[in-house]
Amino acid sequence: MSEILIIGRDGQLGSAFFEQIRGIDWASFTFSTIETLDLTNPSAIHSFFSDKKFDFIINCAAYTAVDKAESEKEMAFALNTEAPKLIADEANKTGAHFIHISTDYVFGGNQCRPLKPDGPKSPESVYGQSKLKGEESLMHANPKSMVIRTAWLYSRFGQNFLKTMLRLGKEKESLNVVFDQIGTPTLADDLAHGIITIMEKIITGRKPFISGVYHFSNEGVCSWYDFATSIFEKAGITCKVFPVESDQFPTPAPRPFYSVMDKSLIKETYDIEIPHWQASLTKCLKDMTKM
Ligand SMILES: NC(=O)c1ccc[n+]([C@@H]2O[C@H](COP(=O)([O-])OP(=O)(O)OC[C@H]3O[C@@H](n4cnc5c(N)ncnc54)[C@H](OP(=O)(O)O)[C@@H]3O)[C@@H](O)[C@H]2O)c1
Repeated sequence: MSEILIIGRDGQLGSAFFEQIRGIDWASFTFSTIETLDLTNPSAIHSFFSDKKFDFIINCAAYTAVDKAESEKEMAFALNTEAPKLIADEANKTGAHFIHISTDYVFGGNQCRPLKPDGPKSPESVYGQSKLKGEESLMHANPKSMVIRTAWLYSRFGQNFLKTMLRLGKEKESLNVVFDQIGTPTLADDLAHGIITIMEKIITGRKPFISGVYHFSNEGVCSWYDFATSIFEKAGITCKVFPVESDQFPTPAPRPFYSVMDKSLIKETYDIEIPHWQASLTKCLKDMTKM
């Protein structure tokens, strides 16, 4: 039976994995939290792996407070750069396949064609810089790793744009939402499902583990304004949404204007289908009504 470690159980993506592994009989899963594996503590990382052996290690944990990272640079780099490198070292020692999650923020965001994994990087925020440095350090430590970049992650777990819109939409009569940042929302369940499908294909010998950098978001393209409008329509919320430009919402960390990902590499390499963001949003809202 293959042994799989998911680091960061309590985050959006970790929680999506936790829900989806029920009923899987081709692997056994271990989940870590900040309590059982504090990624800012190098000796804790080393001792965690000293008596365990995994076939796959998936790192869903990260420093994700994009604006706060501008003033907490050290912490952002500890979690997003140092920790992935140390995990990659441990994976290397034990022969585990390492899958690390990264972000569209490694790109500058001023392109206008779907971002390819090997396209030019120019992160403009501390968060983006720490994540890019993390990708580079882990690949250097263990070139047999896989980095999967995603964007605009949301889910029924934790805090995210969907949850903020649902709350504000009920409190306010109207909202201004930016329409000059373009990307694709990604339902955390779809990313977890995609990674589980890839691991199953590798474990059952139908596909090889091919190291490198991949992109995964839902299909389709929209602005945050379009996303908000669809959330309200699907949730039956009558709050009006007005499109505004990003300069009306100054933030400590700049956001990429264009984050649409080219997902052809992951789709073709692992023969997976990715749902359209509209279908996934409908599914997520339906799941939330059952909670
Ligand atoms: N959210 C997005 O829009 C987005 C977009 C693109 C890429 N990504 C990437 O996707 C991945 C998953 O994101 P997410 O939204 O699921 O993140 P998230 O919800 O913020 O979860 C991050 C997890 O990291 C854990 N963590 C924080 N400090 C830690 C420490 N010192 N030791 C161990 N664990 C620690 C957190 O634990 P606690 O719960 O205890 O705090 C939490 O479980 C990340 O790599 C992120 O960079 C996210």
